[in-house]
Formats: sequence, C-alpha cells, structure tokens
Amino acid sequence: MQGGMHFVGLAELAAAVSNAGGLGVITGLTQRTPELLAREIARCRDMTDRPFGVNLTFLPTFSTPPYPEYIQAIAEGGVRIVETAGRSPEAYMPALKEAGMTVIHKCTSVRHALKAESIGCDAVSVDGFECGGHPGEDDIPNMILQPIAADRLRIPFVASGGMADGRSLVAALALGAEGINMGTRFLATLEAPVHANVKQALLEATETDTRLIMRSLRNTERVLNNANVARLIEIERERGDSLTIADIHDQVAGVYPKVMIDGNMDAGAWSCGMVVGLIHDIPAVAVLIERIMAEASTLIRERLIGLLDSEPTQ
Ligand SMILES: Cc1cc2nc3c(=O)[nH]c(=O)nc-3n(C[C@H](O)[C@H](O)[C@H](O)COP(=O)(O)O)c2cc1C
Repeated sequence: MQGGMHFVGLAELAAAVSNAGGLGVITGLTQRTPELLAREIARCRDMTDRPFGVNLTFLPTFSTPPYPEYIQAIAEGGVRIVETAGRSPEAYMPALKEAGMTVIHKCTSVRHALKAESIGCDAVSVDGFECGGHPGEDDIPNMILQPIAADRLRIPFVASGGMADGRSLVAALALGAEGINMGTRFLATLEAPVHANVKQALLEATETDTRLIMRSLRNTERVLNNANVARLIEIERERGDSLTIADIHDQVAGVYPKVMIDGNMDAGAWSCGMVVGLIHDIPAVAVLIERIMAEASTLIRERLIGLLDSEPTQ
C-alpha cells in the first residue's frame, strides 16, 4: 500500500502503484477543493482500471477543510477505499460507511488502532516511530509495535514506517501484519510527480538525516534535515515550552509546493522517514514492487526455509 503523501500522492503515483498490483492512494487535501479532488480522481481513473484509494488527513491545520464535501467527492468519484489519518475518523464514520467505503485508519499506537477497530474501521495501518510524517508521541518502533498490534487487534493491519524492500515485507509478515504501507520509498520512484531535486536528496541522505520537529506542540513530525529545519529546531530550543505554531509558521506553512514542485530543498519542513537510509535508486514503481516481491520470495524460500532444513534432526 502507498500511504497518502502531501503534494506527492497525485494521480500519476496512485495509478502507477495500483497498476503494479499495490494499492495507490491519492492525497485528498493536496487538492485545495473537493471539486479539484473530483478531477484528480477522474484523472487517476483514466490511468488505471484497478482500485485505488484516497487519503483524508485530519491534522491541526491553519484552517479546517470541508471534510463532508471531500467525502462526497470521493464517493461520487466511485472510490471505495479511504485511508484516514491524523485523528480518529469517528465523526466521519457514518458518512464513510453510508458511502460504502472500506476505511483503513493509519495510527501510531495500538490504543488508537483498537479505538479504530471499535468504531468500525475495516483495517488499520500501524505506523511505527521510524516513519516519515507524524509518528505520534509514544515513540514505539515497529519491532515492538507490530507484534503488540498482532496480539490485540481482530481487524487486519498493514505495517507502516521504515518499509523499503523484500526484507521489510517478510519482517512485517513475521511480526503479524498482512502487508506493508510505504511512503518515503514510493517518493523515490520514477512516477512520483515531484522535482528531481527531491529524489536526489533522498539518494544522498542517510538514516541519520531525519529530525523530529514540533514535539512540544504534540504534533511531532519526522522530516528531512535542511537549513530551514535547522533554523526551526533553533527556534524550538529558544522558545522551549512557550513555542506556538506561529513561531515556526515560516518553516512549516506552504512548504510542500516549494519543495515538491520548485525543488527548493531548503524551503522548510517536509516529511521523510528514516528508511531514506535504505534508498539507493529511483526505479519505476512496477520495478520496485516486483523487486520487493521477488526478494521476499527468495528470502523465504532460500534463507528462512533453509534455516529449517539445516535444523539438526534426531
Ligand atoms: C513527503 C511525505 C508526505 C506525507 N504526507 C502525508 C499526508 O498528507 N497524510 C498522511 O496521512 N500521511 C502522510 N505521510 C505519511 C505516509 O503516508 C506514510 O504513513 C509514511 O511515510 C510511512 O513511513 P515511511 O516513510 O517510513 O514509509 C507523508 C509521508 C511523506 C514521506
């Protein structure tokens, strides 16, 4: 599954992922109005016959988007899968269910996953501390988070955060997930409709190059370090607990078009996962997905089954 990504999850990427056998997701709020989202959904439908989803993110923003109208646009566009994220989708569940949606809620703790299960979500995407974007405030990495999710949840879930290759997939399956959700890795593909500078930055970055910001606002985000992020962290240090979102407005507001469209890599804070340390090429989405599946098969057949074969027999 491809997670929603602001200014990245456009029709081109969602269609490429769905065409390659994954679940592509259009990022709803990147479209400034429900009408524009309807147009993006239609554009995606022109590019694929396969199912795709739409991400609806409920995050503290500077103004509240018209969510009911976005849901209507999704339903009228014939989309039947929604990835919700940010906050509990509880208030919108009646509308989503009435429209026949399969709701996959992305959450960063087992407690929130259980809540999603209790309000009728069909599945969850469990996002570990390593993830790009908003990892929540609990800081539980996937080696711990996924098996606890497997022990406690009844609905299916995909593992999200830090997923890049066949090893990630096999590990996620071993930990109890039904599959994987990827963000940063899909950003580094030929079809991701972003400036070449973004892809180059991902190739150059290592696993130590992400930073956590906005912790004191309880809106923690993992982003790729750059000059303006360094400035943001300096402001956070100066302001301490008195920090408000207005103090860092210049470093976080309106950044995505500057980065993703203009290729200005120092424009401010944009989400990126630690998995960037595992990204060494910019393949086509289909090549990436085929490679992941082939690596996973080889890993299971040759390494894991091999381990059983070499077990001493009595
Ligand atoms: C550039 C970028 C933008 C993102 N924007 C959103 C978003 O708008 N809504 C959302 O729910 N998640 C967003 N995410 C999070 C991804 O959907 C996904 O959960 C996350 O990237 C998984 O971690 P990974 O990057 O380690 O694969 C974004 C991630 C990236 C890298």
